[in-house]
Amino acid sequence: MPWLRLPYKVPQRPQDLLHLCQTSAAVQANIGLELLYKSIEVGREACHSNRITQLPKSLTTPDYIPEALDITVSTRDTTATMGPPATPYQPYAEVHKDPKGPGDARPTSLQILKDSDAIGKLKGKTVLITGCSAGIGVETARAMYEAGATVFAAARDMKKLDGVIEDIVKNAQENKDGPRPQPIELHLDSLEAVRKGAEDFKQKCGGQLSILINNAGVMATPYSTTKDGLETQIAVNHFAHFLLFQLLKPLLLDSAKQSGSPSRVINVTSAGHRFSTLKFNDKASLDAWNSGEGYNNWIAYGSSKSANVLMTNAIDRKYGSQGIHGLAVHPGGIATDLGRHMTKEDWEAYGEENVKRMMATIFKSTSQGSANTVWAAVSPHFEGKNGGQYLEDCGETGLAGESDAAGTPGYRPHIYDEELENKLWKLSCEVVGVHED
Ligand SMILES: NC(=O)c1ccc[n+]([C@@H]2O[C@H](COP(=O)([O-])OP(=O)(O)OC[C@H]3O[C@@H](n4cnc5c(N)ncnc54)[C@H](OP(=O)(O)O)[C@@H]3O)[C@@H](O)[C@H]2O)c1
Repeated sequence: MPWLRLPYKVPQRPQDLLHLCQTSAAVQANIGLELLYKSIEVGREACHSNRITQLPKSLTTPDYIPEALDITVSTRDTTATMGPPATPYQPYAEVHKDPKGPGDARPTSLQILKDSDAIGKLKGKTVLITGCSAGIGVETARAMYEAGATVFAAARDMKKLDGVIEDIVKNAQENKDGPRPQPIELHLDSLEAVRKGAEDFKQKCGGQLSILINNAGVMATPYSTTKDGLETQIAVNHFAHFLLFQLLKPLLLDSAKQSGSPSRVINVTSAGHRFSTLKFNDKASLDAWNSGEGYNNWIAYGSSKSANVLMTNAIDRKYGSQGIHGLAVHPGGIATDLGRHMTKEDWEAYGEENVKRMMATIFKSTSQGSANTVWAAVSPHFEGKNGGQYLEDCGETGLAGESDAAGTPGYRPHIYDEELENKLWKLSCEVVGVHED
């Protein structure tokens, strides 16, 4: 990234430096300020403007002598800001501290819309959501409808989907006048079917797509492969959505250009990424994985959910400067049909008492479970910036401790591994049959 020296006079007082970072025109224009402190004592500190809430400790100590440091204030284009934030932005941290089960004080998707002043405000924006026949996808589509967006709801079971759409329109609470959500038939266990679904969407969407929400997923399936010979969890959760993104990318780019507002791709991942890093990184290891070698249903889920975040970060890195930002969201624990493939042994491994305790505490309602996705879709915090993030509890996420128990917040470092991200991207292009970009 080229560095561009700004004609700023370097402020001498720490508070002025902070003020500059938070208010400068460059910051408003989405060009982040990065401060380089070239000093042996201070080391190198890089602060992204919109995340600075306090200066590094070393700069606020009473014996700080600014002249002793060679401070350079430079700008760089951070429309493709990457990597986990040093200070995660967590506006809903307080209400997530002491969870009391579904329906407690944690925000619903409707609450997020209200807080973001987004009710009816997405008029003219086209949103496509996968997995709208059940669970979190239903509530995400409902919220996007309340936001006034032109919603395309995708699913494989059209009868179920028709019922969902009817319910969304009939039970709208805040915005009853939006365009009726349109159904798209989309089967994710066949790449050919994904191409068909994408084509159907293209015919109907009028060349517009501002928000793509890759929500559909399967969890802990026994070993099986799809029509393309791919292991089911990686096929449905990652490769199908990767192809969908590739096919719809021109629309996301065009919509960003036409509207002047960047498009967003939101990949619904899981804290389950902590179960495993990606289990393959080239054709040979993918072939072995597809053959069922060393298969474990939870490792497979973790691997596919890690792929969701790696893909998100790659989108932001590759297309952030062209107007597409990627965000990965963990919805939390929600009692949906996702557990349909869990065996008696799987449940026993969790322990009955443990499951009961989790249901009564950390579990959320489906509307609360869609809140993080909706936050990623509408929050001004992500308007053309802060992409390439893993989000949970409607906030950016900090690093998980090695021994942190399931259900505690935090990401594992492998999801920000740029080398792995590139390998997955290259391999995914090959698998789904698109030119590498
Ligand atoms: N629930 C949780 O606690 C939790 C936690 C972390 C992450 N997540 C993530 O949240 C997302 C949504 O899960 P959920 O809890 O809402 O689960 P869900 O109730 O089982 O819904 C999953 C959706 O994906 C669709 N789907 C599955 N396989 C498909 C295929 N081959 N082709 C097309 N559509 C397919 C389902 O369609 P059908 O109705 O036809 O089956 C359904 O619409 C998933 O990505 C999941 O990994 C959930």
